[in-house]
Amino acid sequence: MNNTIAAAFGNIDIYVFDQLLKGTFDHCRTVLDAGCGGGRNIHYFLKNGYEVSGIDADANAIEQAKALSGQLAPNNLTANFVVGRVEDMPFEAATFDLVICSAVLHFARDTDHFEQMLQALWRVLRPGGYLFVRLASDIGIEELVQSIGNGRYLLPDGTERYLVNQQVLVGYTRALGAELYEPIKTTNVSNLRCMTTWCLRKKQE
Ligand SMILES: C[S@@+](CC[C@H](N)C(=O)[O-])C[C@H]1O[C@@H](n2cnc3c(N)ncnc32)[C@H](O)[C@@H]1O
Repeated sequence: MNNTIAAAFGNIDIYVFDQLLKGTFDHCRTVLDAGCGGGRNIHYFLKNGYEVSGIDADANAIEQAKALSGQLAPNNLTANFVVGRVEDMPFEAATFDLVICSAVLHFARDTDHFEQMLQALWRVLRPGGYLFVRLASDIGIEELVQSIGNGRYLLPDGTERYLVNQQVLVGYTRALGAELYEPIKTTNVSNLRCMTTWCLRKKQE
């Protein structure tokens, strides 16, 4: 890559990048990307000595993430990347300083599935750790989405997603006993879909 920023950060989510710029994750050491895909959000962490793990239901995605890890951080164990489902992750409780879950939770089948994934993400986070979630919401496009049941909606862009709203996210934040380390922020993409960033910190014990 000729672009040095892209070489350093990869095709990183702009809101993960924002937290890197703010230094939020500077003192983290162990990172899990839950639903990592090919690993676009882990370049920086791999290149900067973090211990990085990933899980994804898609075996091809995990092969890509392993290859990326081997290329950028030969000392990071490729065995840290596993094929599996977020809702029944094999990782020990309270393992990670940072858990990233970007563009995954809106694939929930229903509220039970959403809550299973959320509980699993929270379980593997250590006290004081950060959970970074990016997910689809109806915030700002409430009138434009159409319910198809089980918390899922048809969006103006033609996709079907499990959607949350501000009140739901605030409710889960309280129920988990979490702190927001960044206000809930939403990007409205031409009224076709809205993507919300939900940043939770687990309190120290
Ligand atoms: C839109 S991609 C996002 C990938 C990556 N997080 C990113 O931001 O580029 C969604 C990913 O979530 C994975 N996924 C969806 N539901 C999952 C689940 N329940 N458990 C594990 N992976 C899941 C898919 O296989 C896919 O790789």
